[in-house]
Amino acid sequence: MESQTHERTLDQGTAYERKPSAYKTELTEVGRGTPMGELLRRYWHPVGLSSHATGTPREVRLLGEDLVLFRDGAGRPGLVWSRCCHRGTTLYYGKVEERGIRCCYHGWLYDVEGRCLDQPCEPENGAKTRDRVRQPWYPVEERYGLVFAYMGPPEKKPVLPRFDALEELGEGEFIDVDDTSIGSGGGAVAPCNWLQHFENVMDPYHVPILHGTFSGTQFVPAMNLMPEVDFELTPRGVKSSSTRKLDGGKVMHRVTEVVLPTLRIVPNPFVGSYGKVESIGWTIPIDDTHYRIYTAGRVKEKGVLLPRAPDAAFRKDRREMTPEERRATPNDWEAQTGQGPITFHSEEHLRTSDRGIAMLRRLLATQLEAIAKEQDPIGVHFDQASAYVRLEAGQRIAER
Ligand code: FES
Ligand SMILES: [Fe+2]
Repeated sequence: MESQTHERTLDQGTAYERKPSAYKTELTEVGRGTPMGELLRRYWHPVGLSSHATGTPREVRLLGEDLVLFRDGAGRPGLVWSRCCHRGTTLYYGKVEERGIRCCYHGWLYDVEGRCLDQPCEPENGAKTRDRVRQPWYPVEERYGLVFAYMGPPEKKPVLPRFDALEELGEGEFIDVDDTSIGSGGGAVAPCNWLQHFENVMDPYHVPILHGTFSGTQFVPAMNLMPEVDFELTPRGVKSSSTRKLDGGKVMHRVTEVVLPTLRIVPNPFVGSYGKVESIGWTIPIDDTHYRIYTAGRVKEKGVLLPRAPDAAFRKDRREMTPEERRATPNDWEAQTGQGPITFHSEEHLRTSDRGIAMLRRLLATQLEAIAKEQDPIGVHFDQASAYVRLEAGQRIAER
């Protein structure tokens, strides 16, 4: 009798066989002393709206550091390390006075640059020794309704840049600000790494899928069309140029940019009008696994940063949606927080449509190398004239 052979086909690609998961620490982690943390610390970052800096101390967290934002009686904004340099209680419980912020515990008073002005428990209010302590502080500047902080090495502090899109106002336009993460539409603080959102700006191919068909039209019908896309480096980041062929022989051209370190320059996807990009969003790392977006834009109506075209889709505020509604109609918020607290780059399979993302990651890696070699990263300027940034982003309709 012939012996029976049992042919056995092995299952392939099962989850059991997967390799250990890892992420690119050098691109994602933002703490002081990490490569990206040090790169980010070469630039100014918004730390709050101007209206957040008041006589009531406000806790802010930025690049993994806990800080307190306030405005002294003379109107100067201050940003100090939250732990009092006497014995460490938080200045969040402090009281703001004419000359600075006073700690609740023993009453040490600090000005907006951390100088100690009073130590009420010490002989002569500490007059002889209080100059020897300094509450750690960061320089701040206000512009566009935002408070910007510089958290890097003092000798490398660049000029706070100006942007043409926020400087050259049209008839009836003014600058408005927002801190509710409009880019993600899910809430003010997104529970995932900042790069997941930042690199999404160089991912125009997801627009017709996630925003165009999967969840129905989320912007305008024209945005549902699959674009032809070119990516290019700019002197300040990466830009994508998308072309969509519309009915009637017209073409929609759309340029979006990422500007280092974290700026999203995205023309209004609800296409309220054409022309130069209306707003700038700063994708601010709170820490390794949280970010938020501050946006400043040219508006004609307070609170309307993204005016809608007549054919724009109605979009319910994500925060008012049930979990079922969110599951059925995912958006950027769901897609990006769905990648996890820090996405595992080891599990990715980048393809042709990801070339903008690859370009951005390479550009960031090049800047890490530059600062390791004691060079300045792109987009930092030390004189006012070069710190005026002309953006290319915008959208227009043309004949084919
Ligand atoms: S801990 Fe702040 S004054 Fe003592
Ligand atoms: Fe998106």
